[in-house]
Amino acid sequence: MKRFEQAEVMGKLPEQFFAKLVKKVSHYVEQGYDVINLGQGNPDRPTPQHIVEALKEGAERPDFHKYSPFRGHGFLKQAAADFYQREYGVTLDPDKEVAILFGGKVGLVELSQCYLNPGDVALVPDPGYPDYWSGVAMAGASMETMPLRKENEFLPKYDDLHETVLNKAKLMFLNYPNNPTAGVATESFFKETVELANKHDILVCHDFAYGAIGFEGQKPISFLQTEGAKDVGIEIYTLSKTYNMAGWRVGFAVGNESVIESINLLQDHFYVSLFGAVQHAAAEALNGSQQCVDELVDTYERRRNAFIGRLNENGWNVESPKGSFFCWLPVPEGYTSETFADYLLEKAHVVVAPGIGFGSEGDRYVRAGLLTSEERLIEAADRITKLF
Ligand SMILES: Cc1ncc(COP(=O)(O)O)c(C=O)c1O
Repeated sequence: MKRFEQAEVMGKLPEQFFAKLVKKVSHYVEQGYDVINLGQGNPDRPTPQHIVEALKEGAERPDFHKYSPFRGHGFLKQAAADFYQREYGVTLDPDKEVAILFGGKVGLVELSQCYLNPGDVALVPDPGYPDYWSGVAMAGASMETMPLRKENEFLPKYDDLHETVLNKAKLMFLNYPNNPTAGVATESFFKETVELANKHDILVCHDFAYGAIGFEGQKPISFLQTEGAKDVGIEIYTLSKTYNMAGWRVGFAVGNESVIESINLLQDHFYVSLFGAVQHAAAEALNGSQQCVDELVDTYERRRNAFIGRLNENGWNVESPKGSFFCWLPVPEGYTSETFADYLLEKAHVVVAPGIGFGSEGDRYVRAGLLTSEERLIEAADRITKLF
């Protein structure tokens, strides 16, 4: 087989850290161990039936068998705008302030393509979702990290960022409720973000992937609810987590009109829009009854209470997450996140994600997903704490 020389950009792509973890886990599963996998971020519940029915209905429609309009169907953009109005009181122009995406991940990577040149700087949270790094690397730009620490409620402390870094930065990624720390944003933090972005001409991208998942009745806030947010940024919303539609690949970007236009323009060259039936079902998800979302959040809250409650009962004092479906657990003295995750896998057959996979600030933690039943989570908590 001939091996062709790859484009330089291919060598710059970050290592897919979690591919290694998947391999380790399969080894234990293949050996027949009863492995409890809390290491991934893949929602375990099915897509609500009324959304599946809408897909079936859409699949029967010959008009959807043709190419979709380049920038997506008007009805889905309208549904996204209505969703933002209803859920957050944010008014959006569906034609100019909404871009349909093949899932949030794609939008996050595209944004760097749209705005970063080689040598430019993007600010990324550490720990943070690794796909921010992918887009930055593809653009040949570099990253400066914003540490997320417990003492600051896992929000970046802008005062600690160097003025020269802030002046150089063109783009900033934020994500609340946060993967992996489970931190949530406050109104004052978003206000500070808008001020900083204005002062230093930084484009803010708020990744709102876990926007629906807040506990104890606390609904996570949208960045666009902040005065002036649309001037400086966009928000990326995905249906993956809110409606258990991770496999469907559908989301949207909303906010700053010129940024939305850039994303749409780039997409004109990459794709024709999503299958019409998927757009039809996505609109049904956004427009239809939201009871399924309430039930899902209740499910995660019950799981959270069961898992964290049991860890605490058994003597491991850990904090309850306020949002997202992750628990960010500090590793005991003497371990790194990777050695601790390996230890749990080997001795308890429980999989957690080592925090180092999200950045160097993550190395004192492991991430556990609330993505299995309460019974299994309690069993995982018992197996883990038995080792101490
Ligand atoms: C923080 C964060 N952002 C974005 C995404 C992307 O989700 P999707 O591409 O399924 O929309 C994920 C998925 O796990 C995530 O955890």
